[in-house]
Amino acid sequence: MSFLKEIEHRRTFGIISHPDAGKTTLTEKLLLFGGAIQEAGAVKSNKAKKGATSDFMEIERQRGISVATSVLAFEYDGIKINILDTPGHKDFAEDTFRTLTAVDSVIVVIDVAKGVEEQTEKLVEVCRMRNIPMIVFINKMDREGKDAFDLLDEVEQKLGLKVTPLSFPIGMGYDFKGIYNLWEKNVTLFSGDSRKDIEETIEISDLASEELTKLIGEKSAKLLREEVELIEGIYPKFDKTAYLNGHLQPVFFGSALNNFGVRELLDCFVEIAPKPRPKHSEERLVKPEEKKFTGFVFKIHANMDPNHRNRLAFIKIVSGTFERNKPYLHVRQNKKMKFSSPNAFFAEKKEIVDISYPGDIVGLQDTGTFKIGDTLTEGEILNYKGVPSFSPEHFRYINNADPLKSKQLNKGIDQLMDEGVAQLFTLELNGRKVIGTVGALQYEVIQYRLEHEYGAKCTYENLNVHKACWVEPENKNNEEFKEFLRVKQRFLAKDKQNQLVFLADSMFSLQMTQQKYPSIKFHLTSEYN
Ligand code: G4P
Repeated sequence: MSFLKEIEHRRTFGIISHPDAGKTTLTEKLLLFGGAIQEAGAVKSNKAKKGATSDFMEIERQRGISVATSVLAFEYDGIKINILDTPGHKDFAEDTFRTLTAVDSVIVVIDVAKGVEEQTEKLVEVCRMRNIPMIVFINKMDREGKDAFDLLDEVEQKLGLKVTPLSFPIGMGYDFKGIYNLWEKNVTLFSGDSRKDIEETIEISDLASEELTKLIGEKSAKLLREEVELIEGIYPKFDKTAYLNGHLQPVFFGSALNNFGVRELLDCFVEIAPKPRPKHSEERLVKPEEKKFTGFVFKIHANMDPNHRNRLAFIKIVSGTFERNKPYLHVRQNKKMKFSSPNAFFAEKKEIVDISYPGDIVGLQDTGTFKIGDTLTEGEILNYKGVPSFSPEHFRYINNADPLKSKQLNKGIDQLMDEGVAQLFTLELNGRKVIGTVGALQYEVIQYRLEHEYGAKCTYENLNVHKACWVEPENKNNEEFKEFLRVKQRFLAKDKQNQLVFLADSMFSLQMTQQKYPSIKFHLTSEYN
């Protein structure tokens, strides 16, 4: 296959949802359709298997959340699909935000009974800001839930989306009969009392036909006709360009658990979802079709196997081909590197590959040279944008609990921060280290990993910080900035990139500081310029 064809034939996306909406179940069903797994339950049991090989993963398993973001690839209809799994748990939101820098589109899963939940709102907002094309899948239609039209309203209002349904449920919960596919103009019906199987898919060219009445009964047929008329009256016609630009989001209904509506979703997905998209670097826009390889690290996965203390850096290929044993430039370190065993990912395994294409993810063995956001190229000085840090929500001092192991502790903290587990701030006044996290759970993870992977012990001490703000002075030499540095010294720290950060202890003090020093800008994300 030619290079351009390889690009055309890839779709790299992520599934986002609030925990429990059915992301794992849907992923699994997509893999089943792609023939990548043979039985339901494989994705979860895969998680469990990993749990058995590492104690840290055991924590993950017990907590029932996916700490790790993994890649699952399969082929469907001649298209190579890469699913980047995203942790749903809010404490790992930053991990998910970073993964969203590597996807070309997303599927948003919503539970029909619960509607739009908090975590979905946050994640969709990030996608909206980046104009990532989104498809919405309303799941669990086999259960009683909200009225479909109310739910579409909720999705528009709470998520700020402009939707258009491409499938519509016939009934719900106990009365759920099937799905009308507005995209392909056919009806798929459930069979049996259990409503577990797909009975048949019937082409319906005319909704007014008697055939429909025979199939689903007079009442349901009448209702469906009215509903479809309403849909066509209220919602815009699906427009692929608007979807690709992030201005229109198609909606599908179904039940991942019962395999219902999933094929419709997948068929439409392979047809409309974007092939690998161009990406902005600080220097220029890079197109996938460019011959020379470029890519960036969006995830570092550490010590999967405690016997081999290596890490796996996940690289998204943006342009060109990535080849085994070819020298590439690690731009931040200005260092040429070769990789003898790059991994490609499949549904249940990873394998060494010789060549990978834009849209693909390769896993590179790493002994500590990579940080999240690092760029690799064939020599060009290029820095990919868009792996920002946000102000953490929790802040604690980290103390060494075993003075003989301070070297191990520092190394451990350093590496865990490069992986993006949390953020480190070093106070200007006394050099004390502060760990900032999105959720309280990370403190346990860090403590556990420092002990088990680095042999170091730590304790934490509370610190009253409301937000970390990255400081941007108008002029580093003006009196106002010098006064700010003097007066607020106690609250100033450096992040790992040596950027100056103001640790505001309350909303009030942040506002007061802003008023007092109007020429200084305070940003809640590290990526402000
Ligand atoms: P997540 O990855 O988004 O957190 O959700 P997951 O797929 O694990 O699904 C959460 C729960 O919802 C699971 O039940 C799953 O079986 C159920 N579920 C998913 N899709 C559907 C659906 O279409 N209909 C119905 N009725 N349930 C659905 P669980 O009891 O928590 O887990 P399990 O014991 O079934 O694995």
